[in-house]
Amino acid sequence: MARFKSVTLEWKDDRVVFIDQKKLPVEEIYVECTDHEDVYRAIRDMTVRGAPAIGASAAFGYVLGAREFSGDWKTAGVVHMRRVKERLASSRPTAVNLFWALERMEKALISCLDSAQEDPTNILELEALKIAAEDVETNKRLGMHGADLVRDGDGILTHCNAGALATVDYGTALGVIRAAVETGKRVRVYADETRPYLQGARLTAWELQQSGIDVTLICDNMAGWVMKKGLIDLVVVGADRIAANGDAANKIGTYSVAVLAQKHGIPFYIAAPLSTVDISCKDGEAIPIEERDNREITHFGETQLAPSGVKCYNPAFDVTPWSLITGIITEKGVLRPPFDVSLGKAFI
Ligand code: MRU
Repeated sequence: MARFKSVTLEWKDDRVVFIDQKKLPVEEIYVECTDHEDVYRAIRDMTVRGAPAIGASAAFGYVLGAREFSGDWKTAGVVHMRRVKERLASSRPTAVNLFWALERMEKALISCLDSAQEDPTNILELEALKIAAEDVETNKRLGMHGADLVRDGDGILTHCNAGALATVDYGTALGVIRAAVETGKRVRVYADETRPYLQGARLTAWELQQSGIDVTLICDNMAGWVMKKGLIDLVVVGADRIAANGDAANKIGTYSVAVLAQKHGIPFYIAAPLSTVDISCKDGEAIPIEERDNREITHFGETQLAPSGVKCYNPAFDVTPWSLITGIITEKGVLRPPFDVSLGKAFI
């Protein structure tokens, strides 16, 4: 029976096990998913989060969905898997990697059934394992391209968590930082705490500390001042969906960081695999933005911070316009504006 293990997830004995990212950094707890509904909940509730991690998790969820079925694959099986796909796809709306992975799994299912295979579950398992392994390879390649942009001694600002935990392993934005460190460069990382869900404080700070990389945690509203003081040489963040013109959706607050970087003449890079690019979105206007529970703003854990009943607005992502982006670091190299041209070429 095939097995796979990374920081973020493990596939063994027909179950997927996630490190519970809601509990980090205080507790290291693991959550086991034995059916596709469990995986749907793990993505929806952010036990697992981050665009590429969500994609790979959904792929394993699809395998579990297939294992739940017995009967005629060509008729009832196809209907069952359509339902599984729709359920998993409804877990979160913004990260396109989720839909990308599910499309890929569905294609594998169809081609398997077309080739007259009785039971496609083993083929689907192999496809999910391939998605997971490829993600790690892609991040390492992307990291190497990005490492060339980092000089010895640089201060690097990052927002949210685009690390090993947000991917299958290694990370995108943090992959660039890891690769720079692996080539012997000394870096100082400044991690925005990333209100309201605190992925920067809880996950990026933890992950970099664990890897022995110099990290300083700051509140989001300190980023401008830290730049003004000359502590930042470049910004690198991840993305959840990149439109055809290069507009990039990422964690709320990324847009503010990009504006600040431009004001201070600091290069601003997005690091993302090509699976995060959605060519069907003409520009950022077309990217669906998840809105989350107001309680994330009004409360800190169980502690109430804001008056009961206050009106809130809690978009989980924002869109940074392409004009503020210096380059998009991908597994095929660093793409430069105009991004409609460079992204188009990257897909050839
Ligand atoms: O809401 P989250 O924690 O899933 O948001 C994650 C981000 O915004 C990351 O920056 C993005 O997914 C890039 S992950 C390599």
